[in-house]
Amino acid sequence: MNKTILLNSRPVGKPKPEDFKIVSAESEKQLSEGEMLLKTMYVSVDPYLRGRMTDADSYIPSFELNHPIESAIVAEVLGSENKNFSEGDIVTGLLDWKKEQISDGKDLMRVDPDQAPLSAYLGVLGMTGLTAYLGLMNIGKPKKDETLVVSGAAGAVGSIVGQIGKILGLHVVGIAGSDEKNEMLKQDFGFDETINYKTTQDITKAIADACPKGVDVYFDNVGGSVSDAVMFNINNFARIVNCGAISLYNATEMPHSISVQPFLIQKRALMQGFIVMDYASQFPEAIGQLSQWLKEKKLNYTETVVEGFDNIPQAFIDLFDGKNKGKMVVKV
Ligand SMILES: NC(=O)c1ccc[n+]([C@@H]2O[C@H](COP(=O)([O-])OP(=O)(O)OC[C@H]3O[C@@H](n4cnc5c(N)ncnc54)[C@H](OP(=O)(O)O)[C@@H]3O)[C@@H](O)[C@H]2O)c1
Repeated sequence: MNKTILLNSRPVGKPKPEDFKIVSAESEKQLSEGEMLLKTMYVSVDPYLRGRMTDADSYIPSFELNHPIESAIVAEVLGSENKNFSEGDIVTGLLDWKKEQISDGKDLMRVDPDQAPLSAYLGVLGMTGLTAYLGLMNIGKPKKDETLVVSGAAGAVGSIVGQIGKILGLHVVGIAGSDEKNEMLKQDFGFDETINYKTTQDITKAIADACPKGVDVYFDNVGGSVSDAVMFNINNFARIVNCGAISLYNATEMPHSISVQPFLIQKRALMQGFIVMDYASQFPEAIGQLSQWLKEKKLNYTETVVEGFDNIPQAFIDLFDGKNKGKMVVKV
């Protein structure tokens, strides 16, 4: 029997297990020309999927109720009538939350299991690695000896952003939600300073203390009050990469925030929204650079691996409680 995870209801606030439904059905194995049968190996759960669970207009279509959820997946080709893929190939791309599925191979990419562990193609060599590199380079425009602040620093994107900052010679400050995560940022990823946003009373002052020369680049993964605090510390001509706003994804009412305009004017700063798919033409260059740094051991990464297909929804929900260090993936 095959299993599929459907969107059962549109979450209100933090997603709940009941917002998802696992259904079983006979596996389809009959392939037409151009098709192949895929077995899911690793599933990426990502905060941005929360946005697709609402029916609001966005840069990517909403999931439909009672339809499968899709995310980046690494899968094995069990059988193929597609001339571009053979049985035994390992592929990655956006696929349904199904244990097995038939695909026409469109937008799927073959990956090399000898180059990197398969789950890395969902993280450091996948969408989150690309986001870190391309967001930082294109909008953050980091320069040696500048100061980079990263929020969501211990997550998939943030932990890579901070390390790239160190490779490029910046003073790097990470903001994350536990002392254990912050210890990891310093020990394993070379961050210079860290701030625990859950226990620090005055985050504005903590940022000022951690950034004696002010903030030149802010890579924002979380939005909300943490990001407000950064605005009080930006330098002239600072660059702010609006990559994510996870602190607001489950909000049923938008909280009041500071007005950013006076800060941007006084400091002649740039704040720009970033969506990784807009930079697809730069993916080969970015993957090349990230792979090179990995090979040279300049870049390190960590993952939280949850086991079992049925645990995909809970792994996704756990992102909003900060239960992951580095990339959250599910091994099926
Ligand atoms: N624009 C793009 O193209 C693009 C692409 C990929 C990702 N993103 C965005 O980048 C951000 C990071 O994504 P990711 O995949 O790397 O996820 P992640 O950081 O690996 O996981 C989410 C982390 O967010 C933190 N978090 C949860 N609730 C929070 C809150 N209320 N306030 C502050 N932090 C909170 C948690 O860490 P703590 O323990 O530190 O709280 C959690 O571990 C997300 O906002 C995502 O939407 C954007």
